[in-house]
Amino acid sequence: MSKSAEIIIDGKSYELPVTIGSEGEVAVDISKLRGQSGVITLDPGFKNTGSTKSAITFLDGEKGILRHRGYSIEDLAEKSTFVEVSYLLIYGKLPTQQELEQFRQEITQHTVVHEDIRKLLDGFPSNAHPMGVLSSLVTSLTAFYPESLDPNRSWDGVNLSIIRILAKMPTFAAWAYKNEMGHPLNYPDNTLDYCSNFLKMMFSLPVEKYEVNPVVAKALDKLLILHADHEQNCSASTVRIVGSSQASLYASLSAGINALWGPLHGGANQAVIEMLEAIKADGGDTAKYIAKAKDKDDPFRLMGFGHRVYKNFDPRARIIKKTADEVLEALGVNDPVLEIAKGLEEVALKDEYFVERNLYPNVDFYSGIIYRALGIPTEMFTVMFALGRLPGWIAQWKEMRENKEPIGRPRQVYTGPNLTEYIPIEKR
Ligand code: CMC
Repeated sequence: MSKSAEIIIDGKSYELPVTIGSEGEVAVDISKLRGQSGVITLDPGFKNTGSTKSAITFLDGEKGILRHRGYSIEDLAEKSTFVEVSYLLIYGKLPTQQELEQFRQEITQHTVVHEDIRKLLDGFPSNAHPMGVLSSLVTSLTAFYPESLDPNRSWDGVNLSIIRILAKMPTFAAWAYKNEMGHPLNYPDNTLDYCSNFLKMMFSLPVEKYEVNPVVAKALDKLLILHADHEQNCSASTVRIVGSSQASLYASLSAGINALWGPLHGGANQAVIEMLEAIKADGGDTAKYIAKAKDKDDPFRLMGFGHRVYKNFDPRARIIKKTADEVLEALGVNDPVLEIAKGLEEVALKDEYFVERNLYPNVDFYSGIIYRALGIPTEMFTVMFALGRLPGWIAQWKEMRENKEPIGRPRQVYTGPNLTEYIPIEKR
């Protein structure tokens, strides 16, 4: 492969360097093109633009490959734990037994949140969407730990901020849910593992004893692993771009949570269940909804279908589909929306429209069904995604800082009016 590419603009040739990734990915480096030629490149939605060089996650959308730091998602989902995958993403290698134990202990030490955060929570109406509550609580950490505002402080200080957010996020997520339900808040139980502690804070009520079901805790752990990172997606890019202005870790993560919220990104898991419920309420006619999704005059899209990068299959969706079957069987749950989901998938996978456009079920198509089976309400689904994506965002932010990346600031092609004379209001 040549180390340079040539671009000809208006008859003049410019030589551009070519960068090759460790999996053979080829990129033409256009960063100096404007300086040389005055020309920029245009790529709305960054569909074909690499914003960074990253050593965290490798993804091959054509082959359906997803690897974190070289380890396949299939291996990690089957053999690892969410806490270990978090370590891998953030620190770049699998921990030794001792390192993992220390990491766990550090996280456990910081699960309690400042009591004044309860007062913040009290200010939210109970119908507040838990994603809005979550992003606000994460931003509020900048007030409780003002030293965290400086991303240039010592590594120990930055690392403490990282540990704190990993520890407190389950508490925030559970409290966002309790706020919605109008139930009393629960405090963390540091005798439990990461997922069991979260489940207890979510579901325990003072009126009855709550025992964490190990099947539920294990399924949740797997779901969090499957969401842990996904290279330069909308929210990870947001975290990096906000952090590139030297905004703090918590400010950057809070922005990532808001980016995730939208139904075209993490909010799709909520949208999928709402869609399946609507189809069920409408008599379960999947063909009607497939037709709506294909109709260009109808804004309806098949939620949980399609992906910007996966063009054959989403490896996470494969694992999740299997997990959904296992969890539903283990818990004895018979969910009619699962049947609708399977019916939709079957029809869509054979339909020319979906086949031509490489539209396959993505991670969100089945995750909502598992969350429902675990007793997690629909509005909390995207919060669950955020809980899983947290280590990925942290790793992306940390890498961006370590690489000393410049502030993110895209260019544009201006299409508005040319210089126009200002006319005073009385003469208009
Ligand atoms: N239903 C019907 N048509 C679709 C769908 C869909 N879900 N997704 C894409 N298309 C069509 C689209 O209309 C377009 O058709 P045409 O070429 O005739 O104009 C073609 O497929 C390409 O779509 P696109 O919108 O240009 O593709 P994109 O890469 O910009 O968007 C996507 C990717 C995920 C936003 C989109 O597929 C979508 O809106 N899916 C539904 C929402 C969803 O499930 N999002 C979760 C993504 S996975 C979780 C995550 O990582 O965030």
